[in-house]
Amino acid sequence: MTDYTHIFQGTAFSSKSPTEVEILKNHLFCVNTNGIIEKIVAPEDNDYQTLLHMYDGKENFHRLAEGQYFLPGFVDLHVHAPQWAQSGTALDIPLFDWLNTYTFPIESRFSDLDFAKKVYEDVVSTLLANGTTTALYFATVHKEASILLAKICAEKGQRGLVGKVVMDDHEQTPEYYRDADTKSALEDTEQFILAVKELAKSVKQGVYPVVTPRFIPSCTSEGLQGLGALAAKYDTHVQSHCSESDWAHGYVQEKYGKNDAFALHDFGLLRDKSVMAHCNFLDDADADLFAQTGTAISHCPISNAYFANSVIPVAHFHEKGVEIGLGSDISGGFSPSLFDNIRQAVMSSRMLEDGVNPALPATERGVPNSRITVNEAFYLATAGGGESLSLPIGRLAENYTWDVQVIDTTIASAKFPLYDANEELHDIFQKIMYLARPENIREVWVQGEKVHSRM
Ligand code: GUN
Ligand code: FE
Repeated sequence: MTDYTHIFQGTAFSSKSPTEVEILKNHLFCVNTNGIIEKIVAPEDNDYQTLLHMYDGKENFHRLAEGQYFLPGFVDLHVHAPQWAQSGTALDIPLFDWLNTYTFPIESRFSDLDFAKKVYEDVVSTLLANGTTTALYFATVHKEASILLAKICAEKGQRGLVGKVVMDDHEQTPEYYRDADTKSALEDTEQFILAVKELAKSVKQGVYPVVTPRFIPSCTSEGLQGLGALAAKYDTHVQSHCSESDWAHGYVQEKYGKNDAFALHDFGLLRDKSVMAHCNFLDDADADLFAQTGTAISHCPISNAYFANSVIPVAHFHEKGVEIGLGSDISGGFSPSLFDNIRQAVMSSRMLEDGVNPALPATERGVPNSRITVNEAFYLATAGGGESLSLPIGRLAENYTWDVQVIDTTIASAKFPLYDANEELHDIFQKIMYLARPENIREVWVQGEKVHSRM
């Protein structure tokens, strides 16, 4: 029988499809030396007892205690790592003012590597403690600090996909915070890609460089064209903001006479490994283009409540075959927790479906068929994120990575209302989705390595 590096025994929840959650009751998860789930064994399978007999009591055998459950680690598809420094502040003004008054000044401070190290170490540790095992990060325009963020992910054991941000349009960006010119923006991006690819050679869980035009309004056409060419040359992931707010969406229509999606596509920026944040104002042709090119949406429900002037029709885009994951959008979204974003995704979709203006008759108030269930929001935070990034993550299934959070429902300061020994496991799953707090996340594992524990 194969020699496994770890065997875990317990009950797990994992998405079977966007709408269905699979409950793996008291299964064995056999993890190999590369941190991949090589085999999952159900209690009724032949080798269950044999494996138990071989491994039980050994140091590499881990049995969950009563009241503990496995969930896949979360995949956060949109985080501005430097903005952690201002999380929770300045949310009462529109996007354009927020960027210029608060966000560009704070991001400009990341030319200072000591400051960058402090904030980046905190944000990576905080996200891990909140169950986020993979994060797609915007850093800042600074090449060195962006490489530092990738190194910090590598050291702390998080799977980080990191982008040096490009802002090369001097008409639209402040002198104190932008690329010196288009040529240097592209050179710095290429050097950044090469440095992160070199770093990745020695990182078990992987780190990845991401081509990152901030959004069309901060970039020149030459810059966007050059970034599309770099993404193709190095086959990298791509990220940006797309059709986020009335202002940002309108700016692109005015400049290029088309929506963001087609403009980005013209520059070679919509690829299978592209993830576009927000996308509230995609029309059906834009959504079809996303589906055709394999471009994914990072749905950022908390941030959207502040800056996007609308609720994204996420159920409609899913139906059209677009890949979708979930993003915290720190600090447009204040919370580092994808549990909070799962809750907001469900609540926002319900408000879109029912409508929000009580002065209107019920039949005119909302958009039918807009709601998503908590199962679907969980899918977005896990398997949907994995598919969006084209990585084998976000599911507890064979050939996926052992990226896991151990949820403990019995922690004294955050005890779950569980009073019936025979409570349905799907009800327990729902309670976890709505009630879990960081205290309940007892352990976090990435690629078979324990990266966080709370005793
Ligand atoms: N559009 C351009 N930059 C940003 C940003 O930092 N946050 C959000 N939410 N939207 C943006
Ligand atoms: Fe953002």
